[in-house]
Amino acid sequence: MTNFEGRKAIVLGGTSGIGLATTEMLRDGGAEVIAGSRSECEIDGVECVQVDVLDRASLSELFEKNHGFDYLVNAATGGARAIGPFLEMDLDGYQNSFAKLWGYVNSVRLGVPQMSTDGAVVLFSGYPARKFRPGTIAIGSVGGSVEAFIHLVANEINPVRINGVCPGLIDTPMSPLEGDERQAYYDKGTAGHLIPRAGTAAECAGAAIFLLANEFVTGTIIDVDGGAIVT
Ligand SMILES: NC(=O)c1ccc[n+]([C@@H]2O[C@H](COP(=O)([O-])OP(=O)(O)OC[C@H]3O[C@@H](n4cnc5c(N)ncnc54)[C@H](OP(=O)(O)O)[C@@H]3O)[C@@H](O)[C@H]2O)c1
Repeated sequence: MTNFEGRKAIVLGGTSGIGLATTEMLRDGGAEVIAGSRSECEIDGVECVQVDVLDRASLSELFEKNHGFDYLVNAATGGARAIGPFLEMDLDGYQNSFAKLWGYVNSVRLGVPQMSTDGAVVLFSGYPARKFRPGTIAIGSVGGSVEAFIHLVANEINPVRINGVCPGLIDTPMSPLEGDERQAYYDKGTAGHLIPRAGTAAECAGAAIFLLANEFVTGTIIDVDGGAIVT
């Protein structure tokens, strides 16, 4: 286990799925962890704060209060996402899908000036950014923007490092399906992949932990997708 003793982390979207798994790994590694999302939460050994990543004033307050913190992880989905054929897509829905990007941009812009200079940021894109899947043009565009943002902004926030994890299809509360329907969704969605199963939140969080800990990595993306992109 990576040792994060003496480090302070803020994990936005840190109360569910991949963010929650990252919160727990940082905590288990000895970091002081603050997990933020819009809902109330209770996580053993973690400070939970209610914050909307689209509310810049609340974000600034959180970062200023924790001035000198070391790690910023943002896994917040941001809001509703448009899914379906592009030519039938509601354009407001398409635009609103970018809430995820704005939440990420807000947190990096407002968070980095409050971080320690040897700090690190991790964001999450998503494999539709580089792999065509019917119905995912909007979320693919958002994911591609997140990846471009990481590559480019790394130059401007250096020496704070920034990297991304690109999840494939991961079994998290993001999917509301249950039981057989849920299993069928993941089986069908991953059937053609080199590793034909949904990933776990912990498998993605493990990549985030690597990116936070390894001080020779910045401006890059790790794919945790069961080979989806290369299939
Ligand atoms: N799961 C997948 O298959 C998959 C695939 C590709 C990419 N990803 C990406 O991986 C990241 C994590 O996804 P996940 O599957 O772990 O999602 P998840 O289980 O649905 O968790 C999303 C988290 O974001 C928080 N959140 C959403 N909007 C927020 C806002 N406006 N302000 C603050 N917090 C907000 C949620 O809490 P509240 O609702 O309480 O605010 C929750 O804690 C996302 O960027 C997602 O797009 C996931």
